[in-house]
Amino acid sequence: MKTSRRVVAAVFAVLVLVTGLSAQGNNTTSSALALTPPMGWNSWNKFACNVSEDMIKGMADAMVKSGMKDAGYQYVNIDDCWQVSRDSNGNIVADPQRFPHGMKAVGDYIHSLGLKFGVYSDAGSKTCAGRPGGLGHEYQDALQYAAWGVDYLKYDWCNTTTQDAKASYANIRAALDASGRAIVLSICEWGTAKPWLWGKEVGGNLWRTTGDISDKWEGSTKWPDGTCCSNGMLAIVDQQVGLASYAGPGHWNDPDMLEIGNGGMNDTEYRSHFSLWAILAAPLIAGNDLRNMRPEIHDILTNKEVIAVDQDPMGREGERVAKNGDLEVWAKQMKDGSRAVVLLNRGGSEKEITATWEDLGYPNHLTAAVRDLWQHKELGKVTGKFLATVASHAVVMVTVKP
Ligand code: GLA
Repeated sequence: MKTSRRVVAAVFAVLVLVTGLSAQGNNTTSSALALTPPMGWNSWNKFACNVSEDMIKGMADAMVKSGMKDAGYQYVNIDDCWQVSRDSNGNIVADPQRFPHGMKAVGDYIHSLGLKFGVYSDAGSKTCAGRPGGLGHEYQDALQYAAWGVDYLKYDWCNTTTQDAKASYANIRAALDASGRAIVLSICEWGTAKPWLWGKEVGGNLWRTTGDISDKWEGSTKWPDGTCCSNGMLAIVDQQVGLASYAGPGHWNDPDMLEIGNGGMNDTEYRSHFSLWAILAAPLIAGNDLRNMRPEIHDILTNKEVIAVDQDPMGREGERVAKNGDLEVWAKQMKDGSRAVVLLNRGGSEKEITATWEDLGYPNHLTAAVRDLWQHKELGKVTGKFLATVASHAVVMVTVKP
């Protein structure tokens, strides 16, 4: 009797163990990450390959001191060029000149400030800047990242020749999960293989929908090698149309990182950039030098009312609900039933723009309170529509609350 009870207990223990292990192997960890769009900073847009331990630590300090951490920014992400080679065991080697104390020390410093640590690699043999990529080293690299305390991996798509995108990203996700550390996976495949169709299934938490953003208002030009494209801010926005249904908590469309503060657009245009990213429930990854921001740039990046639209817990991506030439209305359904609305004037002169309740999915007779998220003030109650005069290249951004 006793023996058979022991056998039952042993069988039960094995079952518990097997169930536990198989649960680890699926995406339960990864889908619980990034329940709202990730917020942070990344080195690429401003510094390209000019990354170092000192600069990254300075940026983490600035994220705290500037109030960005309090506004919700969390990740400090090192993009391309931190890595130089592999050692004889195939381990990835960080640049010893630029990161003299190694990557774990950088991660420890970032964590000591209550922030999170991100790195970059590539699914192919080399990164876009020609540094060693992850191909064939996925599990080894994932263990290394976990040992460094990495919380976020941006995984690029250069030098992938005939690789299948979905399989490659599923592979790195499996490797990250097997490392035992919860790591956000940022798929950087530029939208070529339509990652919105499979990104969630393979455990991606966000996926780039387009080629790289450039610090300019509009336009799209080919790279010198003839590949497509360097995109102005509006060219990126136009490519988000039709993708809203693919986004939700834990899995976001990524229209690329912010250019706010990098000097190629004026402050009006940067306000439009930030408002549109918020309406799109886009990851808010700043790309400027946080150590010396002008007050106007600081105020854009830390506008808590606009950030609250981006971070709404329901996780709906907003959509373009009306377009009349250069005049557009974008709207996002919020958890409390209100709508966040952006009136966008892409044209060269001031214009009046109207958002009708029909555009917003409300019945005409409804009366709603309108609040301006840039002026931080109530604009009163209106019925049936809201209209405003919008300057050239500007937005008016409001919430409409029945
Ligand atoms: C690609 C990515 C960029 C950046 C660079 C780094 O172009 O799309 O965001 O990571 O590579 O080389």
